Amino acid sequence: MDDDDKLLSGDKADDAEASIEKSLRPQTLAQYIGQDQVKHELGVYIEAARKREESLDHVLLFGPPGLGKTTLAMVIANEMQVHIRTTSGPAIEKPGDLVALLNELEPGDILFIDEIHRLPKIVEEMLYSAMEDFYVDIVVGQGPTAHPVHFPLPPFTLIGATTRAGMLSAPLRDRFGIVEHMEYYVVADLEDIVKRTADIFQTSIKPSGAHEIARRSRGTPRIANRLFKRIRDFAEVADQDAIDEMIVNRSLTYLRVDQDGLDETDNKLLRTMIEYYDGGPVGLATIAANIGEETDTIAEVVEPYLLQIGFLKRTQRGRVVTIKGYQHLGLAYPSNN
Ligand SMILES: Nc1ncnc2c1ncn2[C@@H]1O[C@H](COP(=O)(O)OP(=O)(O)O)[C@@H](O)[C@H]1O
Ligand SMILES: [Mg+2]
Repeated sequence: MDDDDKLLSGDKADDAEASIEKSLRPQTLAQYIGQDQVKHELGVYIEAARKREESLDHVLLFGPPGLGKTTLAMVIANEMQVHIRTTSGPAIEKPGDLVALLNELEPGDILFIDEIHRLPKIVEEMLYSAMEDFYVDIVVGQGPTAHPVHFPLPPFTLIGATTRAGMLSAPLRDRFGIVEHMEYYVVADLEDIVKRTADIFQTSIKPSGAHEIARRSRGTPRIANRLFKRIRDFAEVADQDAIDEMIVNRSLTYLRVDQDGLDETDNKLLRTMIEYYDGGPVGLATIAANIGEETDTIAEVVEPYLLQIGFLKRTQRGRVVTIKGYQHLGLAYPSNN
């Protein structure tokens, strides 16, 4: 992916961006903007666990990239006043890696596994007993000296995050007592996020500017923050004291983010479906191959937002472009549909 592709992907970029993200992360549930349902539920479970002086039940967070899953895991740790260890599914290659991580936990601590749907199967199976009864059985030694060892663990909380609800095995999913679905953010919440970011960067922004960035951020805080940073550069170079709607519009035209916040990949997908498949139905893998993108990227990043705003629709036989999708491209909706 080149830099422009990343602009709207919601995926994390490089180390520099990661460190900026860190500085933008809210620390408490009260500072965490939006996701009211999720916040309310977690607030209750956290308070109850703290009153009982128990570890929090295991938490599974579902949602597209950039919606605040990692941030929320950190907030939970902060609210529970426990340590958090962060890792990801692909990083835990073998059972020994998991044991090493679990071994470092103190009672009540949190182990955060990002992309938990990508855990190797044998590691996943080891997690079952760890989650349910706080122990793992491991084999120590090799060949004739190999013997099983029962390894007790302190009570801990596993927080798993995944972009793909359907990719998680049922036995793993069933072991999470708390399951939360993160939704795309409404414009008003994204406006608050942009204003907060502007504050942290000590940049002044007009309400109309914040509104326009919010409206064109694909419902995603990470994208809102990323667009904000680029637009701030444009404003700086243009010697503008405050970010207003005009500078946002000019910058986003330059960055090729359209009026609905869609980028070239989104538009190419819609256009390809219409031009080659009469608007569908067509399968994900076929679309991905046609526009030269990974199927995962389409499934996790591109499609969910197009479904959310009603430009695409899921049917039994595949995806179809809706009348709104046609209108977005300025094309006539075929009358036989
Ligand atoms: N609710 C929120 N309020 C304020 N900022 C947020 C919120 N959710 C996410 N962010 C911002 O968006 C960035 C990306 O969030 P992150 O937790 O890394 O997303 P995910 O883990 O779901 O990909 C964070 O660094 C944070 O600055
Ligand atoms: Mg994350």
